[in-house]
Amino acid sequence: MSRRILATCALPYANGPIHIGHMVEHVQGDVWARAMRMAGHTVHFVCADDAHGTPIMLRAQREGITPEQLIADSNTQHQADFRDFHIGYDHYSSTHGEANRALTVRIYEALRDTRHIESKSVRQFYDPDKDMFLPDRFIKGECPHCHARDQYGDSCEVCGKTYTPTDLIEPYSVISGARPVEKESVHYFVRLGDFEPMLREWLAERRQAGGLQVEVVNKLEEWFSDGLRSWDISRDAPYFGFELPDAPGKFFYVWLDAPVGYLASFSEYAAEAGLDRDAFLEADAAAEAGTEMVHFIGKDITYFHTLFWPAMLHGAGLRTPSAVYVHGFLTVNGAKMSKSRGTFINARTYLEHLDPDYLRYYLAALLGPTLADLDLDFKAFEERVNSHLVGKWANIASRCAGFVHKFFDGRLTDAIAPELRQRYDDAVARLQPCAELFEKREYAHAMRLVMGVADDTNAWIAEKAPWKMAKDESQREQLHQVASMAINLFRLLSAWLKPVIPATVARAETFLSSTSSQFGDVDMPLAGHVLAPFQPLLTRIDPKKIQAMIDDSKSSMNAAPAPAATPATATQPATPTIGIDDFAKLDLRVGKVTVCEHVEGADKLLRFELDAGELGSRQIFSGIKAAYPEPEKLVGRNVVFIANLAPRKMRFGLSEGMILSAGEGGADLKLVEVDAAARPGATVR
Ligand code: MSP
Ligand code: ZN
Repeated sequence: MSRRILATCALPYANGPIHIGHMVEHVQGDVWARAMRMAGHTVHFVCADDAHGTPIMLRAQREGITPEQLIADSNTQHQADFRDFHIGYDHYSSTHGEANRALTVRIYEALRDTRHIESKSVRQFYDPDKDMFLPDRFIKGECPHCHARDQYGDSCEVCGKTYTPTDLIEPYSVISGARPVEKESVHYFVRLGDFEPMLREWLAERRQAGGLQVEVVNKLEEWFSDGLRSWDISRDAPYFGFELPDAPGKFFYVWLDAPVGYLASFSEYAAEAGLDRDAFLEADAAAEAGTEMVHFIGKDITYFHTLFWPAMLHGAGLRTPSAVYVHGFLTVNGAKMSKSRGTFINARTYLEHLDPDYLRYYLAALLGPTLADLDLDFKAFEERVNSHLVGKWANIASRCAGFVHKFFDGRLTDAIAPELRQRYDDAVARLQPCAELFEKREYAHAMRLVMGVADDTNAWIAEKAPWKMAKDESQREQLHQVASMAINLFRLLSAWLKPVIPATVARAETFLSSTSSQFGDVDMPLAGHVLAPFQPLLTRIDPKKIQAMIDDSKSSMNAAPAPAATPATATQPATPTIGIDDFAKLDLRVGKVTVCEHVEGADKLLRFELDAGELGSRQIFSGIKAAYPEPEKLVGRNVVFIANLAPRKMRFGLSEGMILSAGEGGADLKLVEVDAAARPGATVR
């Protein structure tokens, strides 16, 4: 029976580029959409950028542009990246649009009118300089457990403990450096607990139907037993997002309107393509029409998609997800993607060096239906693509096409010998399970079947040795039979590879003069069919290109020091150009060190007193102890410091500025020095 499915991938944040980690998901979703279509189903495949939230607002400020400009630029880049990776979205939207605003407000009002929303006052850290509440990730300070400095407000990267920002010692705002103050504010909450019975039922049905993986079901059971806490869905201005319709100055938290973007993107597409929108989105109409909605997501956002999301939809009379398919994370060469190792690779950087179908194939050959992480091992990548795609699949055509053209005018044999026909039918039967394997996201298994048939085909060609037959005039008919069957088997394999490497198979289909839009199109071999001239389908991966891609990823990272105002997980673009006015905001001065000493109880700090000329004397704490174990030796030297940095109250006293040094931190720090003749207090420009 033919199914009607709305399929989505998670909406990438607009504040960073698409990287190869994202591609795991978009390849998984795209292969699925293509394979399901080839199996005869209707799939509408949509996505969008997730355009709201504090990081986007702050990044736009830093770059001196409006958030609207920033998200428009990102959207253009993201769409180009996906298009060039052959991710075939029917529609790609943004959460910052009218369709999304209308749906978000509808959901909120429905929840409010059925009394599932409550408001209460919460105490939160506030940046008094920036006049804004600070998300946890924008507060840093000393870890209350291990006393590591500069740790985020929600967890410590050194000891791994989690806590709340108010637990931090010496907290400071990442945005302004100011010491945050606690402030009360009214927030709106969705009472998630109200939905527990509904969610349990949803879970039970999906578990039965295979719409949720066992690992996810277990996680959900755990969350249920922990108790479902109310969800804080509002943020105070300034914020980039949608304002609550009935509470001026309050905005929907980005994660409230983000998944609604799936529906908004589909609504726009439905209007454009003349589809019955309600049959996919409204609970009653969807139940009647039997349509499905499936989401592909990474494991880090499971809670949002399996608890908040179905509850919101249900509460507003919208259809709930039929399936949420969760995948693991991509590592590179066995480790987390790393900017300094050059393994944090942007989609665009990859595309500048390598064919996207290589990565699509490699990922498909690894992907299974579980939450297991996947590793992009460059050695394996090179070997697998070269051996499987070039050595096994493309090789069949490149070995045999020449005979068909040279001796038979490019025409395949009219009557296929019965034993060869048997060989074809056997191969068709062996590949039949691939349709279901694709549907179940067992791509690795499907690829093993395809390569198994390719191996046997190559072995059979070697046994028949058409190159020997070609030398013997009396064996023309056998040669025609063997070469024609080899091309037919190549065509069969191509159809099953088509969801995975669509652009490469499109080239193969040009040569074959035959395209398949359904797997069933290749059930019968071609006879008496004329081929187009053969053209090489794909080249072997040159390891030099992989190296060049890694080198490029390193250098693009060197051009982009992490600015303080962005969470560690976000990726950085090249440093934006600044005007001279921006530079002029820094009051850089020469200071002569009059005192420099260790600080009792501080592992990393030195206390400086500087003679700053007309500015008087300044006390500054600087974390360079590891680099200068004998502080008294610094007395008398000239240093450069930022004189107009907001003073920071530290446990050991007030720090009135910041001394500049160069290096990576720790022992690798060298003070920026000024000629001994410079006058204390002189401006540096
Ligand atoms: N904007 C949210 C999603 C909102 S969906 C309504 C978000 N964005 S994201 O850009 O951080 O991540 C988008 C998707 O990419 C998520 O499903 C995430 O799990 C996935 N991945 C991000 N890095 C990844 C890897 N290194 N490996 C595999 N998937 C990764 O979360
Ligand atoms: Zn710690």
